[in-house]
Amino acid sequence: MKLFQKQQNEDSINVLPEEERKREIIGSIGKQGSGKSYKIKEQLSILLKSGKFKKVLIIDPMGEYNEKDLKKHKLPNFKLIDNLKELIDYMFANKEFRIVYQPLYIQDEITSIGEAVYTLANVVLVVEEIDLIIPQKSKPSPVMLKLIQRGRHRAITIYWTTQTPAEVNKLLIKNTNTFYVFKVTEKNDLSYLTFMRSDLKEKIPNLAKYEFIEIK
Ligand SMILES: Nc1ncnc2c1ncn2[C@@H]1O[C@H](COP(=O)(O)OP(=O)(O)OP(=O)(O)O)[C@@H](O)[C@H]1O
Ligand SMILES: [Mg+2]
Repeated sequence: MKLFQKQQNEDSINVLPEEERKREIIGSIGKQGSGKSYKIKEQLSILLKSGKFKKVLIIDPMGEYNEKDLKKHKLPNFKLIDNLKELIDYMFANKEFRIVYQPLYIQDEITSIGEAVYTLANVVLVVEEIDLIIPQKSKPSPVMLKLIQRGRHRAITIYWTTQTPAEVNKLLIKNTNTFYVFKVTEKNDLSYLTFMRSDLKEKIPNLAKYEFIEIK
């Protein structure tokens, strides 16, 4: 008799039951100052009001989530951290957390942060300027790719922003459920976006300030 042994690796052990494997990936794209982060803050505020999401980590390399911003967008009880060790310790020590993390060198720190998020599961992860960690041209962060491709099994919801969609690893674009597209005028980015939806060629460069198109 031939025995089939289920291959067990770290990931097959760590998956959640199917009914708990829920998540979305939401992206916000546009030129600087177009309204991307504002939109993410609005969406996050709505999501957190539901009370279902207990672990939230915002990776904020440009300092866009200071106390004033958080207050304005009704995002209460966030702890601001700027030290990697403190971040990892805090995430593992608390069953519930709301953190804004301001990294010094995100490319060096993303592996530890991403592995912690994957291990903890049920996390809402906001990544500002995601092109910094999963660029199209140079080597993307493997742990971020894991969170994007297999994060559903760990209920990792991801919100991301970029100014330059053409320079982000395509796996992210393929796996994103909803895009908020603000004004984009740069040629490469525009042709990349209009490749997704050719009817938007005229609209995207002519969007008004804070105006956006939602693509699902
Ligand atoms: N819908 C809006 N209504 C009012 N003010 C807005 C709106 N959207 C954005 N703003 C304001 O415009 C400014 C820029 O917006 P935001 O921070 O979202 O830009 P961004 O696209 O994230 O730019 P960057 O790429 O430089 O981070 C902020 O001060 C923000 O409060
Ligand atoms: Mg921003």
